Amino acid sequence: MAYSEKVMDHFSNPRNVGEIVDADGVGEVGNPKCGDIMKMYIKVDGDVITDVKFKTFGCGAAIATSSMATELVKGKTIQEALQLTNKAVMEALDGLPPVKVHCSVLAEQAIKSAISDYYTRKGIDPTPIVGPI
Ligand code: FES
Ligand code: FES
Repeated sequence: MAYSEKVMDHFSNPRNVGEIVDADGVGEVGNPKCGDIMKMYIKVDGDVITDVKFKTFGCGAAIATSSMATELVKGKTIQEALQLTNKAVMEALDGLPPVKVHCSVLAEQAIKSAISDYYTRKGIDPTPIVGPI
C-alpha cells in the first residue's frame, strides 16, 4: 500500500491542528470501524467559515484527510462546506489506499457535526439543513 505525496505531506505537516476556544460550533464524531475519534471547531461570520481547527485521535490517513478537509472549507460558506464529500477530500489528496477510505469519512462527518452544533446554538433545527451525520 502506497500513500500519495500529498497524503504524506498533510500527515507530516497537518494544517489547522488544535482547537478554537471561542468556537461557534464544535463537532465530535467517532469512526465505528476502528474507534478513532475526531473533534472539529468552526468559527462562523455571517455565512462564512472564517476559521476551522481539528483534533484527531486516529491514524495517519484520518489526520491527512482532516487536514485537507479543513483547508477545503476554510473561507467557504456553510452551504459550500456541506457539499464537501469524503470522495472530494480523497481526490484532493490524490487518493487513499482502499483499506483507508473509511478514515476519510471522519472529516466529512466532523464538519457536518460542527455545523450542526452551530445551528443548534443559534436555536435552529439543523436536521433539515445538515441532514443525517
Ligand atoms: Fe485507529 Fe487507525 S484504527 S489508528
Ligand atoms: Fe481509524 Fe483511520 S484507521 S480513522
